[in-house]
Amino acid sequence: MTVSELFQKYDFSATFDVDALLAEFDRQMDEGLAGRPSSLAMIPAYIDSGKPVPVDEPIIVLDAGGTNLRVAVVWFDKAGKARVEDFHKYAMPATDGKQLGAEEFFETFAGFLEPVCQRAEAVGFCFSYPTEILPDLDGRLIRWTKQVDAPEVVGQLVGSRIAEALEKKTGRKLSLRVLNDTVATLLAGMSAGISRRYSSYVGFILGTGTNIAYIEKNGRIGKVAGLPASGSMIINEESGGFAGFRRSKFDEIAVEGLKGKDEGIFEKMIAGVYMGTLGLTVLQCAARDGFFSKPVADGILGWTSLTTIDFDNFVANPYVAKGAFSELPLTDEDRRAIQALGEPLFVRAANLTAVNIASAVLRCGEGHDPLHPVCVTIDGSTYYKTRSCMFRSRVEQGLREILGKRGVYFDTICVEDAPLIGSAIAGLIA
Ligand code: BGC
Repeated sequence: MTVSELFQKYDFSATFDVDALLAEFDRQMDEGLAGRPSSLAMIPAYIDSGKPVPVDEPIIVLDAGGTNLRVAVVWFDKAGKARVEDFHKYAMPATDGKQLGAEEFFETFAGFLEPVCQRAEAVGFCFSYPTEILPDLDGRLIRWTKQVDAPEVVGQLVGSRIAEALEKKTGRKLSLRVLNDTVATLLAGMSAGISRRYSSYVGFILGTGTNIAYIEKNGRIGKVAGLPASGSMIINEESGGFAGFRRSKFDEIAVEGLKGKDEGIFEKMIAGVYMGTLGLTVLQCAARDGFFSKPVADGILGWTSLTTIDFDNFVANPYVAKGAFSELPLTDEDRRAIQALGEPLFVRAANLTAVNIASAVLRCGEGHDPLHPVCVTIDGSTYYKTRSCMFRSRVEQGLREILGKRGVYFDTICVEDAPLIGSAIAGLIA
């Protein structure tokens, strides 16, 4: 059997009809904004991105990402430069295989805040999960992603619950202002790109999970009554949940046994926490169809997991000396086969990423004047560290093709610690 025959058998293709997918993204954005059923949640952020950022005023930042949890105190100097103090990094609770109850979860977060709680009155709380934001910037968790195991927290107001737990523990009352990491990334890009006079801003993340935020005209946000007609609002799409792209049989097999297996369909095809599992699925299917030498096939069929890092490292360099593949007695034919089977997964992920970013850029309706491109701020380890298939340059190439053809000018930028900086901005201007 050839690689393309195997891909056909499992209904997998790295390429697809880009225009049709863009149209489906746009349709589901419309549905989500109107409050009708859609796989895109389209969550308004309730942050006025036009406000100036106060100088010399400290704010506490709590950044709950997929893998890490960061706490810091941030303030902006007169030149607008962010100063970060008291920085601490912890593992994200409930990601180590141990389930946490709601009380325990909120107390743990209060514990992270305790050492810095006297440093400021408010907290910019970057909570990187599908969360409905209320106009007072509290946030209600809609569902978990990234395999976090704390089911009782779903449906809870995370900002006020952590504030209560902190007050109980220390007597100190802080106001927590909740936002998504893509919204924070957009805001960080906005402050970094001020001199470039961009026409609009997008914040995209591809790390443990994936998602995008952009600026929408209020007139198109039908599900929120009473917004000023002429204004605009940052929208967190929750694009990791997009279900408008057909899964291959590999994708269906890979999610068996995962939490929320039929949720976050798009994310499970491109994000860091899942690509290794998808790679393992493809390699095990191939092993059963006689692709590798006997000891290598047996070895791969015996694996119960494969990290995205090991998978990517091998596909990028099939002679890599460390990681899971270095334990196998690989022949050059095996190496060739693994590479030929693995690379298309990264190619598909890059192509899907380009469509996701382009759909948000097109949606904002700006970027038609080369003097004022749309600024796309990108954050996330998977985007910057994936080496296979020249991942990043492939995404950029896809963007140039899709947007260039439509006469839309854009720029991609990277802001160091974007979620942290953007959450400080959001907390300070709230
Ligand atoms: C979450 C999003 C988040 C993204 C990137 C996804 O799993 O649902 O809220 O923005 O990961 O961290």
